[in-house]
Amino acid sequence: MVNYFTEENSAETVIERLKDTPDPRLKEIMTAAIRHLHAFVKEVEPTLEEWMQAIQWLTRVGQISDDKRQEWILASDTLGVSMLVETINHRSIEGATEATVLGPFFVPGSPDLPMGADICLDKKGERCLCEGVVTDQRGRPLEGAVLDVWMGNAEGFYAVQQPGVQDEMNLRGRFTTGPDGKYWFWTTKPVPYPIPTDGPVGDMLRATDRQPYRPAHVHFMVSAPGYETLTTHVFPEGDPFLDKDPVFGVKESLVIPFPKTGDHVHAVYDFALKPDVAVKAAAAAE
Ligand code: BEZ
Ligand code: FE
Repeated sequence: MVNYFTEENSAETVIERLKDTPDPRLKEIMTAAIRHLHAFVKEVEPTLEEWMQAIQWLTRVGQISDDKRQEWILASDTLGVSMLVETINHRSIEGATEATVLGPFFVPGSPDLPMGADICLDKKGERCLCEGVVTDQRGRPLEGAVLDVWMGNAEGFYAVQQPGVQDEMNLRGRFTTGPDGKYWFWTTKPVPYPIPTDGPVGDMLRATDRQPYRPAHVHFMVSAPGYETLTTHVFPEGDPFLDKDPVFGVKESLVIPFPKTGDHVHAVYDFALKPDVAVKAAAAAE
């Protein structure tokens, strides 16, 4: 008997067509996607107008995206999916620093700078000294660790958002640790800023009465040979948006004091890296 499509068997009928998918992982992913998508439609029972509205929203997410604007990442971020994928892929291990979202404003190619350099080229805002040590998960300092740092300016914009207004290299830099694993650099005190709301993700936030401000933060990507690259931020404690982050990026262990010390604020944070998967596998095989 032919299994024609019915409301009851809809998911199974579509899944049956996947039976010859050569790549087993693709088959697994497509099967789960169809199972959950059909269950979603059965729960919601969208009208044809509602379904067309959803398709138009998805279309606009694609249309506004280009090499500088990534609305798909923003959609994934604001639905909590980026943080879920990040958390699953970097499950915390004892002693290692927690990861958080990369976000859309990381630009490769920041300048290599000496320790103690000031990355704040526009001189706006309150001066801030950031320092700490990069270690392994047992607290041993790592030499040759690279900290790629980026943040928005005192007015809440990243250099990449304001070409021609900000210097392209404003508030970004790469620092390499010496044998003591220490890093230190000057910057501006981070401030809260809204994620872009002029596209379909902004429409979604407004329709669901959600606020767009991320709590203040400094982004770090910390890498060292033989260790997993860590993508994370540090957040000043007391920020009013810590519990309302539209992209769910805050973890308690990443919230730190930025006390006022003389004429500047001072943030101290140590990063502990995990051995990378290849190194762990080699150690297990020994
Ligand atoms: C950011 O912190 O740069 C960011 C992260 C996710 C969405 C938007 C901005
Ligand atoms: Fe950011």
